[in-house]
Amino acid sequence: MKKIAVLTSGGDAPGMNACIRAVVRTGIFHGMEMYGIMYGYDGMINGEIQKMESHAVSNIVQRGGTILKSARSEKFRTKEGRKIAYEQLQKHGIEGLVAIGGDGTFTGAKVFYEEYGIPTIGCPGTIDNDIYGTDFTIGFDTAINTALEAIDKIRDTAAAHDRIFFIEVMGRDSGYIAVECGLGGGAEMVMVPETKTTLHEVVEKLKGSRKTKTSSVIVVAEGDEEGSAAEIMEKVKNIINDDTKDFKVTTLGHIQRGGNPTGKDRMLASRCGMAAVEGLMNGQANCMAGIIHDEVVYTSFEDCITKSKPLNKDTLKLIEILSI
Ligand code: F6P
Repeated sequence: MKKIAVLTSGGDAPGMNACIRAVVRTGIFHGMEMYGIMYGYDGMINGEIQKMESHAVSNIVQRGGTILKSARSEKFRTKEGRKIAYEQLQKHGIEGLVAIGGDGTFTGAKVFYEEYGIPTIGCPGTIDNDIYGTDFTIGFDTAINTALEAIDKIRDTAAAHDRIFFIEVMGRDSGYIAVECGLGGGAEMVMVPETKTTLHEVVEKLKGSRKTKTSSVIVVAEGDEEGSAAEIMEKVKNIINDDTKDFKVTTLGHIQRGGNPTGKDRMLASRCGMAAVEGLMNGQANCMAGIIHDEVVYTSFEDCITKSKPLNKDTLKLIEILSI
């Protein structure tokens, strides 16, 4: 293999740049020509493919976002789109791909590999941490630290005004961010898509905690089945129906996706990036390079996409115990 291209796709995550840097420099170190594809699969279709020398990834290890830009490609979901993408890769002589992203990215990579056989290895890049085959995903650690900083600040003002705050964190299908932030941020409760929490349970919890505390924080994952934090707050407020209680909501939103990656994310990104290139060199394909128990592990895209990574039940229990 002489030419490898790298792309970032789906929602960006802090540490993607560190991963791109590791991919490009590992490839060059091993004597390969490295290419960057702009805007994920859309850029592949549009032929936005450029050679990357070592200096192209200078001074990015510490930066959030992705220098290759990212997109969620509708065209790549179609057979026609993927055919054009393949032709573009052929035109540039690309023999291997590294796709940095989450399950949507890996689903696209798997279909493309099955159709055209271009060896592809993924790196887990998403703040959600919801990818099977790696203990952590690139960007998760940074996202929870960003969210925790915000939650700490909200707690100050919540305490000053004796208020009940519902704080929404990201995680369309996953409660990882909510659980870590709930525990680290001292929340009374977390609401996540993986486990059902009824409004009745929320109301009871708040009534209980008002006996010992003057303010409360509930962390809600974006994908919770009871709705958004704003909707849940309105419903709970109506049930409690007490004008002396002051309810507020904060949606942290995309602030969680930006910022300089933490040391942990830079390390994870660099290791996965190197493992992806070396995996391609050693004949691996159609899989993701992740880290489990501090070791590089290659997991098939099939497993990454179809198997779920359950939340740690002990952590959920701990939140309950520590919020009495
Ligand atoms: O997948 C990462 C993620 O940040 C989710 O937590 C969130 O639901 C989604 O991306 C938001 O995507 P977008 O930036 O396209 O609105």
